[in-house]
Amino acid sequence: MSYFPPDFLWGVSTSAYQIEGNNVHSDLWAWEKKRKWEPSGACANSWELFDEDLACLKELGVNTYRFSVEWGRVFPEPDRIDHEVLGRYLRQAELLNKSGILPMVCLHHFTNPAWLLKLCPLGWADERAIEHFLRFADVAVEALGPQVKWWMIFNEPNVYVLQSLGTGHFPPGRRAIATPVTGLLSSAMKNVVIAHRKAYARIKSRRPDFQIGIAHNVNAIHPYRDKPSHRRAAERWDHFFHWSMLDAMVSGRFSSWDGVQEALPGEHRDTLDFVGINYYTRVYVRPFPLVMPPLNLIPLYSEMEFITGRFLGSLIGTRQGDRPREDMGHEVYPEGLREVAVKAWRRYSKPILITENGMATTSNEPLRSEYLSGHVRALDESVRQGVRALGYLHWSLLDNYEWSTYRMRFGLYSVDRADGFKRAPKPAAGVYRKIIEAHRLSQAGAARP
Ligand code: BGC
Repeated sequence: MSYFPPDFLWGVSTSAYQIEGNNVHSDLWAWEKKRKWEPSGACANSWELFDEDLACLKELGVNTYRFSVEWGRVFPEPDRIDHEVLGRYLRQAELLNKSGILPMVCLHHFTNPAWLLKLCPLGWADERAIEHFLRFADVAVEALGPQVKWWMIFNEPNVYVLQSLGTGHFPPGRRAIATPVTGLLSSAMKNVVIAHRKAYARIKSRRPDFQIGIAHNVNAIHPYRDKPSHRRAAERWDHFFHWSMLDAMVSGRFSSWDGVQEALPGEHRDTLDFVGINYYTRVYVRPFPLVMPPLNLIPLYSEMEFITGRFLGSLIGTRQGDRPREDMGHEVYPEGLREVAVKAWRRYSKPILITENGMATTSNEPLRSEYLSGHVRALDESVRQGVRALGYLHWSLLDNYEWSTYRMRFGLYSVDRADGFKRAPKPAAGVYRKIIEAHRLSQAGAARP
C-alpha cells in the first residue's frame, strides 16, 4: 500500500551539459581541456537524439521529465540569442507534452556561457552575473512558456558555489583556503539567491500560474560521533550548506558564512513554490580536531572534517556508515531521504519534490535496483509521516558526463558511445517501470466504486 497521491509525479532528471554534447560555448568546454579532464565531446548526443530519449521515457512509463537548457547554447555571445536553439528546446517540451510527460526545466545546472567569465572573472562572486543571468532567464521563459509551466531556476547552487569558489573544481576555480576567498563564497551565494529571487518575481509577474522552485542538494547530516561538539558541528554544516540559501529564498534575509544577516532586495518575500531536493547520501560531520580555524571558516572546515574524518577513519578502521557504497563513494542510505524530506517539510511547510536521487555503478546493477526501490519506499514513508510529496525524479535517465569523467554511471539506460549512442535499459529501468505501474494500478483500483 502506497501513500503517494494519485497525481504523483514519476520522472527522471538530466542536465544539458551532461547529455547534449558539444556545448562548445559553455565555460566548462574550455575548462575540461585546461584541467585535462576526460573530454565530454558528444556526451550521449541527446542534442541530436532527443527522439530516442523520448522513447526511453515512454518505455519507463514516467509522467515527468526534468531537463535543463544550456545558457551558452541560447546565448553564444553576450548579445546574440540563438533562436533556432530555443525552437529546438520548445519542440522537445511540446513532444513531451504530447506524450503525456510533464516537462520541467532547470535554467542553471553548473555551467555558464564562456563569455560570462570574461566579463565577470570571479564568476558568480561578481554581482554583474545576476543581470546577465536574468536576461537569459527572461528569454528562456518567454520562449518555452507556451509549453513549460514548471521551472527550477538553479540546480544545487550550494554545490555549484562551493565547487567554483571553494574547492576550485569548476571555473573560475578559486580555492577557499584563505579568509578573503571565503568572502567570495559568501558573495556568490548571496548573488545566486538574489538572481533566484529576481527571476522568480519577473516570471510570476507575467505568469502567476507557473510553479517555480529549485533543485537543491541536501544530504542526511549525521554527527561523526554522538557527542555535543560533533552534534554542534553537524548542525552548523546542515544549516549553512543546506538551509541558509533556501531560508533566504523564502524569507528575503540572507545570513552569510560568518552569521551576518542582511535584507535582500525585491518585493516578494517568499520565492519558492516547492522545495526540490537532490538527495544522494549520508554525510558525517565532526569538528576539526587539530586546527582551530578562524570563525568564518568553520562551516567550510566542517565539510573538510568529513573528508578528513573518512580518511582517518579508514586508516584506523572506524569506517563511517555500515551500508554499501556506490562508485562515487557515497554510502547507500535510503532512510536519509525520509529524514531530509521530513526536515524540509517541517522547516518550510512547502510541497517537496525529489528532483534527483540515484547512484553510480559499473558492476552492481542489483544494488541500483535496490537503491531505487529503497529510496522510493523512504519517500513513501515520509508521506505517511505527513510530508506533502509532489514526486520522485530519478537521476538519471542515461549514463552521462559526470563533470570530468564517463566512469561514473548513473543511468537507467546505458549509452554505447562507440556504437551510435545506442540506449539500452538496465535492470533498474524495469524495476522503476513496475513501481510506476503498480502505483497506477493501485490508484485505479482505489478509484473503482
Ligand atoms: C548533480 C548532477 C550530478 C549528480 C551525481 C548532482 O549533484 O546535480 O549533475 O551528475 O549529482 O553526482
